[in-house]
Amino acid sequence: MKGIILAGGHGTRLYPITLAVSKQLLPVNDKPMIYYPLSVLMLANIREILVISTPEDLPNLARLLRDGSHLGLSITYARQDEPVGLADAFILGADHIGDDSVALVLGDNIFHGYSFYDILQENTADVDGCVLFGHPVSDPERYAIAEMDSLGRLVSIEEKPAHPRSNRAVVGLYLYDNDVIDIAKNVQPSARGELEITDVNRVYLERGKAKFVELGRGFAWLDAGTPDSILQASQYVHMLEGRQGVRIACIEEIALRMNYIDAEACYRLGEELLPSSYGRYVCALATEFGHAPQPAGTFS
Ligand code: G1P
Repeated sequence: MKGIILAGGHGTRLYPITLAVSKQLLPVNDKPMIYYPLSVLMLANIREILVISTPEDLPNLARLLRDGSHLGLSITYARQDEPVGLADAFILGADHIGDDSVALVLGDNIFHGYSFYDILQENTADVDGCVLFGHPVSDPERYAIAEMDSLGRLVSIEEKPAHPRSNRAVVGLYLYDNDVIDIAKNVQPSARGELEITDVNRVYLERGKAKFVELGRGFAWLDAGTPDSILQASQYVHMLEGRQGVRIACIEEIALRMNYIDAEACYRLGEELLPSSYGRYVCALATEFGHAPQPAGTFS
């Protein structure tokens, strides 16, 4: 399965913060926002990742994530000149996807919860159709909303409905089989002029090939698209990291734990980030995993 992170758009809901900086590079507590969706793909064992963004923001994103090889990944980049809708990701990413299946994650979505790794492993294997994930929200008018029947089957999806039929938002992580490229190419722009991902998902629903997985109340799904939601996301991560002493979405840690890199490579990545506490965390973790720091003077 290939991965795509959609990190485009002008971040207008965050103006003036995003006049000169990409939304996905803003901090969520102790790390850039894009680390969170990247960590989702890494946990799903997806190692070939395309990052889509604006021509202005791509150089900075590439400066941060490089070609991914330091994390045991392959990261490539594609430019989206205008934000014409989420479904455009499959048209821009058609070569990257090739004849494979694909996971799309939105660059401002943050996922955290017990057994997420298992949920990802289970649902990324042999995708036939699409897999959508749902999460309860208090402001359903802001999202795509899924309606279920009494047997728990998905019956409708509406994008930002004025009169929502449920409080279950369709979150910004989508898994598709290879048909998604053709489906996206045939989607017509919506009233707001966008190639809506919800229209792609509706085609799968009509074909009886849309699986809906509830992430449930014990799970945290946050989208960090406004000043309030970035602050809330930062507070959430800050609270958990402070309390537990572990970091959420530490991409070096995930690369190490997933065996994409060894302890020595991880230590070097941590060293590059010293003297930050994030860098110290990565170094300490690498040491715990068997890297023995060399005493000063060893190589002299
Ligand atoms: C987008 C999608 C929407 C989805 C949401 C999740 O909305 O259009 O279907 O529920 O992401 O974050 P946007 O945040 O671009 O308004």
